[in-house]
Amino acid sequence: MTDAPTPLPRGRILVVDDQHNMRRTTALLLREYDYAVIEAGSGEEALGVLAKEGVDLMLTDLKMTPMDGLTLLKKAREVAPSHLQVIMMTAFGSVDTAVEAMRQGAYDYVQKPFKDGELRARVERALERGRLLAENGLFAKEFIERHGLSALVGGSSAMRELTSRLQRVAQSDATVLVQGESGTGKELVARAVHAHSRRKDKPFVPVNCAAISETLLESELFGHAKGAFTGAVRTRKGLVEEADGGTLFIDEVTETTPAFQSKLLRTLQDGEVRRVGESTAVRVDVRIVAATNRDIELEVREKRFRQDLYYRLNVVTLRVPPLRERLEDVPALAEHFLKRANARGPHPRRLSKAAVDHLMGYGFPGNVRELENLVEQAAALAESEELLPEDFPLRPGAPVNAGGPMGAPPSFLLEGAGSRMPSLAEAVEDAERRAIVQALERHGMDLGRVAEELAVSSTTLWRKMKRLNLRTPGPEQRE
Ligand SMILES: Nc1ncnc2c1ncn2[C@@H]1O[C@H](COP(=O)(O)OP(=O)(O)OP(=O)(O)O)[C@@H](O)[C@H]1O
Ligand SMILES: [Mg+2]
Repeated sequence: MTDAPTPLPRGRILVVDDQHNMRRTTALLLREYDYAVIEAGSGEEALGVLAKEGVDLMLTDLKMTPMDGLTLLKKAREVAPSHLQVIMMTAFGSVDTAVEAMRQGAYDYVQKPFKDGELRARVERALERGRLLAENGLFAKEFIERHGLSALVGGSSAMRELTSRLQRVAQSDATVLVQGESGTGKELVARAVHAHSRRKDKPFVPVNCAAISETLLESELFGHAKGAFTGAVRTRKGLVEEADGGTLFIDEVTETTPAFQSKLLRTLQDGEVRRVGESTAVRVDVRIVAATNRDIELEVREKRFRQDLYYRLNVVTLRVPPLRERLEDVPALAEHFLKRANARGPHPRRLSKAAVDHLMGYGFPGNVRELENLVEQAAALAESEELLPEDFPLRPGAPVNAGGPMGAPPSFLLEGAGSRMPSLAEAVEDAERRAIVQALERHGMDLGRVAEELAVSSTTLWRKMKRLNLRTPGPEQRE
């Protein structure tokens, strides 16, 4: 026998209606569904409640005196927490006003008298949305703690430069383009921009352009009118509107079609959105942060990305350097990820010096995310308390300081660290051998200089030379 699941907290609902009977019935119905319900007989009273109590959802009548539902909706935005959802109750025949309310930020509307189950379904959905927004930390005041600059670990000069630029940029309202290879921390950077901006108490809304189809992306971002396409059973606000007052993070922006790009451009230029299937536009005030792991200038030259949109987005660029160009951040990052893993796992682990050296001799094609995965794996699987080099099976290859073309490594390279393809491994060993031999030719047997040039520790160099059967200097060759 299993235990019954613990019921989830159901959410707090404020019911506003100046008609006593209607309000009572609605409140009773909702209490039956286990919600905590507060009642208010007027807009003024409702605003008082909103300012004091943590309300998740307000269900308000449209036609009230002296303050009507629309005015209440507007004023509520100023006093209520930003995750507050609003559903308008309308009498039959006043759907137009309800639609207007949604244009002004209500999430949904419901017609009186309620049909069986309809009220509950809508309330559930609205609460779910509010929970999602709150959970995502979109509005939370702890956003700055969790996503501020302090979340960005690494004291290398490259990172210090990035963070000081970030701080300056954040305070302006300029559009920001975050560029960097996959796994370098672009999303963290985008969140930090928001957390340090004047918009920090407003939503941070991420949208990943690579994750969904173009049509879906369009309606997600811009919203849609009821009946705009099959399946659009109701009018929906898009994410751009959701981000009003805050920051919209457009991730993987290069993965979009030119048609979509021109729509996005129009939104940026005019500061307004048009829902799919609607003719009127809604004004929005959003700051845009976009990100890409591609060489966007190349995308523009090859006509895959609209030049005018590129200029619009690229007011300020923040470039996140690949990890191989700031290997001195590896120890701090590894410690950071290990601390997190230790807090979760049953056995606290620590890093051996040899393990750190081993990691610092690696090129990290998957950047910080790869290091994060390596540390988590090691913490989960290692046999001893002290993590040793062999607990970090590195993918062969990834020349250090190669500074290759921007762009994500092919996905097969990203599958599980430690998976080996012999022929690839050999090719990589070859490349390593060549790089080491050339450096040895330049610096003789001065291993210190060789290691420095190759940006690995001398220990790592020594070990690699042994593994590659390169002659390591004997005592007579040392100074
Ligand atoms: N400087 C950093 N300090 C701490 N954690 C970091 C840092 N940089 C990246 N990370 C962590 O590494 C992972 C990858 O970062 P993020 O998702 O921001 O990268 P990305 O550049 O957006 O990658 P992709 O292009 O694949 O989307 C995340 O779990 C993030 O928390
Ligand atoms: Mg990302």
